[in-house]
Amino acid sequence: MLIKRKRGWELPESAATPESVYWNRRQVLRTMGFAAAGAALAGPAMPTLGLAQDDTVDPTADLYPVEANPLYTAERPLTPYEIATTYNNFYEFGSHKEIWRMAQRLPIRPWTVTFDGLVEEEKTVDFDTLIRAMPLEERVYRHRCVEAWSMVVPWSGFPVSELVAYAKPLSSARYLAFQTFGPDHFRANGFRQSWYPWPYVDGLTMAGATNDLSFMVTGLYGQPVPRQNGAPMRLHVPWKYGFKSVKSIVRVSFLEERPVGYWEEIQGSEYGFWANVNPDVPHPRWSQATERDIGTGERIPTVIYNGYGEFVAHLYDGLESEPLFK
Ligand code: MTE
Repeated sequence: MLIKRKRGWELPESAATPESVYWNRRQVLRTMGFAAAGAALAGPAMPTLGLAQDDTVDPTADLYPVEANPLYTAERPLTPYEIATTYNNFYEFGSHKEIWRMAQRLPIRPWTVTFDGLVEEEKTVDFDTLIRAMPLEERVYRHRCVEAWSMVVPWSGFPVSELVAYAKPLSSARYLAFQTFGPDHFRANGFRQSWYPWPYVDGLTMAGATNDLSFMVTGLYGQPVPRQNGAPMRLHVPWKYGFKSVKSIVRVSFLEERPVGYWEEIQGSEYGFWANVNPDVPHPRWSQATERDIGTGERIPTVIYNGYGEFVAHLYDGLESEPLFK
């Protein structure tokens, strides 16, 4: 359990403004002509009971709940479990808000994670072994999607810096790439999302990855993370838009060259590698000045770095006006 010095970043709960426009990435994909993205939008399913993610007992279930780190809290109310586990983005399973159901088909055992590239020694480790080597804690983080919705979620997991230490990168490593399972994994199980390019991948600089905030998520709300939220292990980078937070990671590569992310490859002008949550940098087709809290329904002002500037602003000192960082 890590105890760090107190830092405040709480966002005031205020200033609801009427929601005038609702944009989302499904529209982006439709605009781009991806046939598979044509499903009509429906409101999120709201099951009245918790979601059973499997008939079998998760082999890491005994690890939860983990101790909450009191330094990582938010003044906004926690998003209800039923919403955070049904209002998901996971394009391998579709482009609608029923993907939480589709994701139940994802096989999550056995699950291995490969560390490769610029490391002392490449290795592949079983997830159930890896997690037991890590110091687990719970952190409440805000989660802001580029689609202008947000949540507040109690995530369980461990700092990415612990994963980096475990991987033993060489000093020449400047970037990390986090990769999701590939097409073979899901085609073999009947998942047929056809748009290119799989597998989903995104990356961070070494400084970003080893920042205190960067978190490897293995659980939610005191339980192992459900499939639709990125089981068995996903990233969460709270000062960046949610697309950075790669789900269901099978490979972590240490690189000298900057990796190209999934969304950057599809539509680089909209979803840049360097983009941070920033109310002053609108998406080409909608404003990022406000966001809708998906739990409360309130529309609230968006805060630079999602309110975590105290932790991360120094990473961008002097570079704020560079187009690179938008
Ligand atoms: N990871 C994979 N493998 N595939 C995805 O489609 N979507 C990203 C990110 N990680 C995505 C992904 C986006 S756009 C967001 S906003 C978050 O996951 C959503 O996380 P959540 O469903 O837990 O809220």
